[in-house]
Amino acid sequence: MDPDGSEQDPETKKYSSVCVGREEDIKKSERMTAVVHDREVVIFYHRGEYHAMDIRCYHSGGPLHLGEIEEFDGRPCIVCPWHKYKITLATGEGLYQSINPKDPSAKPKWCSKGIKQRIHTVTVDNGNIYVTLSNEPFKCDSDFYATGIFKVIQSSS
Ligand code: FES
Repeated sequence: MDPDGSEQDPETKKYSSVCVGREEDIKKSERMTAVVHDREVVIFYHRGEYHAMDIRCYHSGGPLHLGEIEEFDGRPCIVCPWHKYKITLATGEGLYQSINPKDPSAKPKWCSKGIKQRIHTVTVDNGNIYVTLSNEPFKCDSDFYATGIFKVIQSSS
């Protein structure tokens, strides 16, 4: 029995779920911020779904919890308040519009830069919201602002 996870090895503990608040509260505010194992995340409640991601924008570290949610190409995105980059809530992809310069009559098309913002898992149990950090092994651009010298929250260990 290890109720507080204190006997787990650090790597296992880093990816254990953490309770960040109550469902009734986030449903009212539609967003909240939390520190999960020393990583700052923002959790959005949008159209009945929860989404968690690194709080600092992959572009230059902008505060995503202060952005507006808008739909682009039918995909809900957080729009970074600093330079207006659009990041899909569901997948963390950076979206941009492109146009074919050789065809001036063509309409701009929404395209994906791929996954730029690390998405974390949200679960709900008995009215409590839990976040589990992503341990997907790829290098995500938002990691740069969530770790190392850009990390605001200092490790307690
Ligand atoms: Fe987010 Fe530049 S910091 S768009």
